[in-house]
Amino acid sequence: MAHIVVLTGAGISAESGLKTFRDLGGLWETHSVEDLASPAGFRKNPQLVLDFYNLRRKQALQAQPNAAHLALAQLEQKHRVSIITQNVDDLHERAGSSSVLHLHGELRKVRSTQDPNLIYDIQDIDPETHEIHVGSTCELGAQLRPHIVWFGEMVPEMENAAALCQTADFFLVVGTSLMVTPAATLIYHVPEKVRKCIIDPQIPEVPKVKNLYSIEEKATLGVPRLVEQLLR
Ligand code: APR
Repeated sequence: MAHIVVLTGAGISAESGLKTFRDLGGLWETHSVEDLASPAGFRKNPQLVLDFYNLRRKQALQAQPNAAHLALAQLEQKHRVSIITQNVDDLHERAGSSSVLHLHGELRKVRSTQDPNLIYDIQDIDPETHEIHVGSTCELGAQLRPHIVWFGEMVPEMENAAALCQTADFFLVVGTSLMVTPAATLIYHVPEKVRKCIIDPQIPEVPKVKNLYSIEEKATLGVPRLVEQLLR
């Protein structure tokens, strides 16, 4: 029984129909990060930001886990698997993974703008539309916001994520351009001697990392194949 730590990004959900950010036609190709994924953007035009996340939440809830998500869940038959994801969809959970740490928040959740500890599942706020709007309030009467880490905001789960990486026996990276810190620095918390693997059709540059090999494949092909080997 090994401890396998997996860092995933938008690429693992691409084949479930959810857009990535920096690929051709990705979200940041047609939207401005500053206006839609920042505290300043939320202050400037809260309904625009809420609508952006309402749309992405609807898409994520309609999407289905793909063969890559399912293979990672199967890996738990034989190993301890810790998923660290930058994704805000719940496809890992719906595939059956039991340990999922969301670095950048979760579309399913919304929280109070007055008390960040007041976090709600969207199902309990509006089970019909799964939306929040200007005027949707928490129990204190304050505006609700997406439970998402916006650019410029702290990544509260980073310490927990780094601690998991330090105890990895094998480190797998799937579907992330490794362009956003601090998530992209996690690979440097994995002990040098531990084997690391990146699965991505366009392998990102990862300077100065030892014991690293890559599989230049889409997630739904590369991940099941690797999992099959790890389960043997
Ligand atoms: N299978 C595997 N990887 C894929 C696939 C696929 N089918 N399609 C695309 N990819 C890869 C791309 O080659 C790229 O390396 O997924 C990666 C997507 O990179 P980004 O769009 O930058 O997404 P990500 O790395 O998750 O972004 C990190 O940036 O905008 C913020 O908070 C947001 O969590 C996000 C963070």
